[in-house]
Amino acid sequence: MDKVRLALRVNGEPVDLAIAPNRTLLEVLREDLALTGTKHGCELGECGACAVLLDTRPVLSCLVLALECEGADVVTVEGLAQDARLDPLQEAFSDCGATQCGYCTPGFLITAKALLDERPQATRAEIAEALSGNLCRCTGYIQIFEAVEQAARRISDE
Ligand code: FES
Ligand code: FES
Repeated sequence: MDKVRLALRVNGEPVDLAIAPNRTLLEVLREDLALTGTKHGCELGECGACAVLLDTRPVLSCLVLALECEGADVVTVEGLAQDARLDPLQEAFSDCGATQCGYCTPGFLITAKALLDERPQATRAEIAEALSGNLCRCTGYIQIFEAVEQAARRISDE
């Protein structure tokens, strides 16, 4: 299959590469750009492990063709920390025990980041609804909800 050019920004950096037109954003992030923080789960849009921000909106990168991202801004879990400082969500997930095996964690962090950027005072019900497309086999979800609430408090105190 002939390759086509794709130019976008990933975690603030310009990226220009040649890809087969049928490749997903998930494949390009993990295999071409070595950004393996974004996890390869079901590839069916059912687990949320592959979530990234696309122009600030959370999307499932397994369901997005990379070519649809021409000119877009993509943020992966690797882009959450700023100036060598973890995002408040990353700190809260660590503090609250919201991560066990960790496979789901990047997807939860990205989805929660989009939620708190839009609704900094999100309620527990809003957090649960926003994260309802992210599956975790380990934690039981309560620690994850508590971590998002703790991050929201930290952000509002800054
Ligand atoms: S890998 Fe994309 S939703 Fe599961
Ligand atoms: S921490 Fe293991 S799947 Fe969520």
